[in-house]
Amino acid sequence: MSRIVVEGRRRLEGSISVQTAKNGVLPVLAATILNSGVTVIEKCPKLTDVDVAISVLEGLGCRVHWEGDSLIVDTSTATGTAISCELMHKMRSSVIFLGSLLARMGRADICLPGGCELGARPIDIHVSALEKMGAKFTSEDEIISCVVTRRTACELVLPKPSVGATENIMLFAVSCKGTTRIINAAKEPEIADLQDYLNALGFRVKGAGSPVIEIQGKGELPATYVRHRPIPDRIAAATWLCAGAITGGTVELRSARPEHMKAILDALKESGSSIYVQGDRITLIGPPRPKAIRRLTTAPFPGFPTDAQPLFFALAAVADGRTFIEETMFENRFSFGPDLARMGAGVFIRGKFAAIDGTTKLTGQPVVAKDLRGGAALVLAGLAAEGQTIVDQAELIDRGYEHIVNTLSLLGASVWRD
Ligand code: EPZ
Repeated sequence: MSRIVVEGRRRLEGSISVQTAKNGVLPVLAATILNSGVTVIEKCPKLTDVDVAISVLEGLGCRVHWEGDSLIVDTSTATGTAISCELMHKMRSSVIFLGSLLARMGRADICLPGGCELGARPIDIHVSALEKMGAKFTSEDEIISCVVTRRTACELVLPKPSVGATENIMLFAVSCKGTTRIINAAKEPEIADLQDYLNALGFRVKGAGSPVIEIQGKGELPATYVRHRPIPDRIAAATWLCAGAITGGTVELRSARPEHMKAILDALKESGSSIYVQGDRITLIGPPRPKAIRRLTTAPFPGFPTDAQPLFFALAAVADGRTFIEETMFENRFSFGPDLARMGAGVFIRGKFAAIDGTTKLTGQPVVAKDLRGGAALVLAGLAAEGQTIVDQAELIDRGYEHIVNTLSLLGASVWRD
């Protein structure tokens, strides 16, 4: 078990470059299976979730290696169709390999991804869409076997704008001759990133970022060499800005995409931070004490992202006033709340609602990360707390942050790994 120790009450100041998006690179890694050639993913983040995706690819017979911060993926030798339960349990979003395995191999054998610490995480939207396109699912115990019986391009109306389901449909649809149209598609920036990669492979996909995505499927799949630079991580970027806001500091981000962060930047402004945007740079000047945001409701993009909710929960713990948060996406996304209460914030949680009374007397405590963004929220709270905060199970944080300790140290925080 790894622990992160934070010595609080230091005003952060500095400039950092934003890492590449975890949720951008994962679907692209799955999509590399569509190309029985070589993909170079530039500035690929070194994350434990990426390590798991690499293990999945190697388990399928692909050859993967690092060259500096580029990840080279050669899938020309891929023959496998199965993802082990061990890997599925390590990273449930390995379900994103389903669409490309069906497209390339005509079958996939995965473990029921099951829930995670955030909640049930169903995949019914994935299954019903892929079945309509010609996939046949059978399950025995926790193994799901999926076989392609036909490849039918069609129009699919999603009951919810699911990110993963949109991605899986895109990945299978490229192998279905004709036009597949996804209505009520997820609009997250990571979907547009995947579209860019698929078009670089020679497919014709359009509409990503809008509610309707069209995929022109072809009979054959490419065998080519392509380079791809995924988008920066908007949630990691939000984390560093919140670190500035919670300590009354000044933080500059480089290589950011402000247009991916409008809801986040608006919330930071509402809490009293000054935000300056120039090209791919975002500068935040935090207030002496954040103001409470009256109401924060999570929603699919372009709404306020659920992955940033824990970060703003931590900000609310030191804010002047009461913040109301409504978490609409996952049923268990306030796991860090009791730890923040022990640190001194007034925390009231009822189902998907939370109310937080901020305090100027947050005190450092030993706490435990229960999930990736909840762990990051506890580190942020530690930055503002008096004394030491020790965050246990910090390996959960390493799933999504490339160098959280180094990055915060660069900004002047007193933080180290224990
Ligand atoms: C993606 O998860 C992200 N993961 C999540 O980040 C993110 O929180 C989420 O999108 C929402 O933005 C990756 O991209 C790898 P969804 P995903 O399908 O695709 C319901 C992280 O750690 N739903 O958009 O699983 C679901 O329960 C993670 O970075 C169904 O009901 O999310 C949720 O309420 C945490 N049936 C809503 O839709 C389905 O078949 C949105 O889920 C699929 C989803």
